[in-house]
Amino acid sequence: MTVAPRTDIGLTSDSIVWTRRHLLALQDLTPQEIVAVLDTARALKEVSTRSIKKVPALRGKVVVNLFFEDSTRTRTSFRLSAQRMSADIVDFSVSTSSVSKGETLRDTARNLEAMGIDAIVIRHRSSGAAETLSRLVQCSVINAGDGSHEHPTQGLLDLFTIREIFQAQGRKIADLHVAIVGDVAHSRVARSNLWALTKLGARVTLVGPTTLCPNQFADLGVAVSHDLDSVLPHVDVINLLRVQFERLTSAAFPSLREYNRFFGMDEARLQKCRPDVLILHPGPMNRGLEISTPVADGPRSAILHQVTNGLAVRMAVLYLCIGASGDNARGPQNTATVHSEESTRL
Ligand code: MLT
Repeated sequence: MTVAPRTDIGLTSDSIVWTRRHLLALQDLTPQEIVAVLDTARALKEVSTRSIKKVPALRGKVVVNLFFEDSTRTRTSFRLSAQRMSADIVDFSVSTSSVSKGETLRDTARNLEAMGIDAIVIRHRSSGAAETLSRLVQCSVINAGDGSHEHPTQGLLDLFTIREIFQAQGRKIADLHVAIVGDVAHSRVARSNLWALTKLGARVTLVGPTTLCPNQFADLGVAVSHDLDSVLPHVDVINLLRVQFERLTSAAFPSLREYNRFFGMDEARLQKCRPDVLILHPGPMNRGLEISTPVADGPRSAILHQVTNGLAVRMAVLYLCIGASGDNARGPQNTATVHSEESTRL
């Protein structure tokens, strides 16, 4: 289905196609679909700089935040994104809901859907929960993090931030070498980044202790290293991951001090990097463990830019999944042709 250009939200010129009702995993997306989200987000980023931070693109739509795990950034970011697009958003609190009385995910979701909602944004401790939900409901399902599987909007906002900063220097994602450092094994952020970056042609090196960064990841077309210091001089971007203590089932390293000594990013390590290296972290940060305060708050850090860009990316995802094609979001596929400025340029 072709959608008219929306000059009110900056979507103009060339056509790109978006055919998805759900956003479940970046592993599923084509490079063109990833670029479609990034371009739409670029157009929508401007909305947050206006004095009235609101456009009517999703007026009349209803989005539910269904979070079974804690979150500060992602939940708030989806909430604000929906509001900026004029959608109604309901924050569903699992601890005060019938889930605490034993209601299943299926019953909870189908009851919510019976109230006429357009999208469920789900975060769940189990890998695959978003995909399961998408088979149970007719509305759109957006994965806001499922176990250690994927966190697609985080991957997209990381990519958006990288592209924005390097494009200003005339460089493309395909020219970049990105290190993803730390607890790769438990990280949905690492997996979403890995898929998105490699699909757009970037070189990726995963770095961490063998217990948290097993060599088997090399089967996915990336390099694996257990020696951060040897990788630092060669990369353009360092994405530092939180050690996911809540998902560790046994001691993955001898002590926090030892982890920090070998894998913590501090000023001494920053000296070994290229002068224009970009430091990312999805948050929440364990300051003093995977990242020192001077690095987190220093000039090479884009951590708060990531948070700002998260809004634009989530506005884009909501728009593409439930808004761009008018009222067909309840059909089997949301087929939309969106007009954006740089649709076909990777
Ligand atoms: C996530 O939900 O995966 C976060 O954004 C990253 C983390 O929890 O470390």
